[in-house]
Amino acid sequence: MPTTNTTRRLRTGSSSLLITVALCGLLLNTNMSISFANPAGDLPSIEQRVAELLGQMTLAEKIGQMNQRNASDGYAPDYLREGLRVGRIGSVLNVVDVDIVNELQRIAVEESRLGIPLMVGRDVIHGFKTVMPIPLGQAASWNPDIVREGARVAALEAATTGVNWTFAPMIDIARDARWGRIAESLGEDPFLASELGAAMVRGFQGDNLADTGTIAACAKHFAGYGAAESGRDYATTNVSENELRNVHLRPFKAAVDAGVTTLMASFSDIDGVPATANEFLMRRVLRDEWRFDGFVVSDWDSVRQLAIHGLTEGDRESAYEAATAGVDMEMAGHAYEDNLEELISEGRIDVAMIDATVANILRAKFRLGLFENPYTKPAELPAIANEHALATAKKAALQSVVMLKNDHGTLPLSPEALDSVALIGPLADAPYEQLGTWIFDGDANLSITPMHAIHSLVGKQVDVRYLRAMENSRSKVSEHFDDAVDIAAGSDAVVLFLGEESILSGEAHSRADISLPGDQAELVRRIRETGKPVIAVILAGRPLTLTNIVDHVDAILFAWHPGTMGGPAIADLLFGVESPSGKLPATFPRMVGQIPIYYNQKNTGKPPSPDTIVHIDDIDARAPQLSLGMTAFHLDAGYTPLYSFGFGLSYAEWEYADIRTSASELRLGQSLTISADVTNTGEVAADEVVQLYVRDLVGNVTRPVKELKGFKRLRLEPGQTMTVDFDLHTDDLSFYGRNMQLMTEPGDFHAWIGGSSDAELRTEFRIVADD
Ligand code: BGC
Repeated sequence: MPTTNTTRRLRTGSSSLLITVALCGLLLNTNMSISFANPAGDLPSIEQRVAELLGQMTLAEKIGQMNQRNASDGYAPDYLREGLRVGRIGSVLNVVDVDIVNELQRIAVEESRLGIPLMVGRDVIHGFKTVMPIPLGQAASWNPDIVREGARVAALEAATTGVNWTFAPMIDIARDARWGRIAESLGEDPFLASELGAAMVRGFQGDNLADTGTIAACAKHFAGYGAAESGRDYATTNVSENELRNVHLRPFKAAVDAGVTTLMASFSDIDGVPATANEFLMRRVLRDEWRFDGFVVSDWDSVRQLAIHGLTEGDRESAYEAATAGVDMEMAGHAYEDNLEELISEGRIDVAMIDATVANILRAKFRLGLFENPYTKPAELPAIANEHALATAKKAALQSVVMLKNDHGTLPLSPEALDSVALIGPLADAPYEQLGTWIFDGDANLSITPMHAIHSLVGKQVDVRYLRAMENSRSKVSEHFDDAVDIAAGSDAVVLFLGEESILSGEAHSRADISLPGDQAELVRRIRETGKPVIAVILAGRPLTLTNIVDHVDAILFAWHPGTMGGPAIADLLFGVESPSGKLPATFPRMVGQIPIYYNQKNTGKPPSPDTIVHIDDIDARAPQLSLGMTAFHLDAGYTPLYSFGFGLSYAEWEYADIRTSASELRLGQSLTISADVTNTGEVAADEVVQLYVRDLVGNVTRPVKELKGFKRLRLEPGQTMTVDFDLHTDDLSFYGRNMQLMTEPGDFHAWIGGSSDAELRTEFRIVADD
């Protein structure tokens, strides 16, 4: 509590302003806490307060702000408290006990010389206690509103513990399903990831970062991390600058435009320079071109790892490389703390650079309102897992499930037409596994599993029989398969709950074989032999190669790891309470050897077509070398995926017609509207995600064969037709050319509207050059 109030004259530029200063520590030895809080809104601007505060800081205190310490899962050791007291720590991560957080804030605010509050970071990736589908699943909803709301719910729950900063969204473009972190991504497409990543940022940060219940977001991992060679996490990435700018950086630019507070540098090596030491990324692109004024945090100890990469000889040089390249705060290491002061006294690092770095961090703290409200009062926030949180989790799960197959209208199941249904498999009743990767705080006790939800939904009408059959998804013990066959044979339909446990995806959990693990394919084959309708519900953290089971099942619902409310969502979809409406955010290969396979590829000089491909089984003996089509395909896999980007079936039927443009020609700087009529020709009301793709036929650099440029989720009643309009400005068609300048070129374009990237309904337009 302040003991004395007085006023002090702050000099800010040429003007001097009066602000109230609380001299709370006047009597406490030499500690003097000066309040930079601005509850009445009458203090100078944030920039002026940052400058004033900076002017009062010692070098050690400045370096302290650049230092983030781990608090080991909620435990705050004495060195941490002492570090805060002397102003040597600017942020902590992994403390989620509100009492400890408040205590740490109190030490920082009331016992340190300048009273600078703490950023408290945590990986709140897809929910806090209430868990939303994994981000890749959320991306399958193609619904920025639900993604934003999911992030808002997560922020409100996390904020009850004093966490004020999440390390999300992860917006690395992921085109390799072997990579375990594809689960955390928003998929393969820069446009979709940009739209949804920006929505997540807005959900976490709200309209005003200083509001109670908003937390700072962190766009990660800057940049190129998703391009790890062979999908092996942390592996080297080789991405050309053009590809980097046109693909990988786009979602980051969108996040910066959406006001993201922080970015995280990637672990990975990009073009010979690990991202954590990459001046091109952090200074040229992020600061000079994008004018980002938040701050960059390293990844976990990634500053010191620069030596392991072989870029530096040790911590001193690592600190030098990272700090000069633009990493403002070091996470979990101590290279900055141990070395920056000497690097400055040696004259290798300029204090002005440190000042700019610390200003970035202080600016974020001011924007978060931490100087005004450093403490957390959980009672001011909504209850954990409240009705709205659970409803949001259910809606997100419902919209994220993708129906990949539905032969002969096997789905939806009708409770009236069934006496019994068999639920079989390791993931039918696995409350923890359905939550997916990166759920530090997720509460498996809140999970409603498919087995329980199906019981509640139809248990009174239908005899629901359940057998786990396998201990887990990796199990190779088939001793319960005979029982599974018996139960299946005696039931009217079989729903198999297959996939991957959550530990098989996520950080450092990459797989080289992405088919169903363990003996699951064998279980499918055994169940198939019963002749009963077989539905596979697949819960997984990545696209899987389903080639070996797809012909043995009648229907497939791909549910990702659907989160807390995955069970009720799946039950509603199976029994037709709702229609599936998710669309794939990433291409499903037929086999691993096709990876990387993504829809927005380049045409090549020898594009394949159905007429130019030959299957390995059809090659004549001693066929001449040049007789096999001579185009870009695999002899054993062709060139098409098993399921395309944007694909997803519905219980409704969709007809797309009459694509048209508002003008056949336009000039640079103008817009046009591309429209089509969409009709629900089916018998049930359902949502459809209508997608717009464009191809720029000729470019200064070669352009993808199709690029997503717009999407809209609509709900149509049976028989209803709606005209869907997409407005397209010529800036929306811009790309980085040979000189790495963003430009839109005059020329011819094709545009498609449809329900997947295979859309065939096409129109054309032309951008004409100014005279
Ligand atoms: C991950 C980051 C994460 C950090 C903190 C790292 O290993 O790469 O994405 O935010 O740990 O938990």
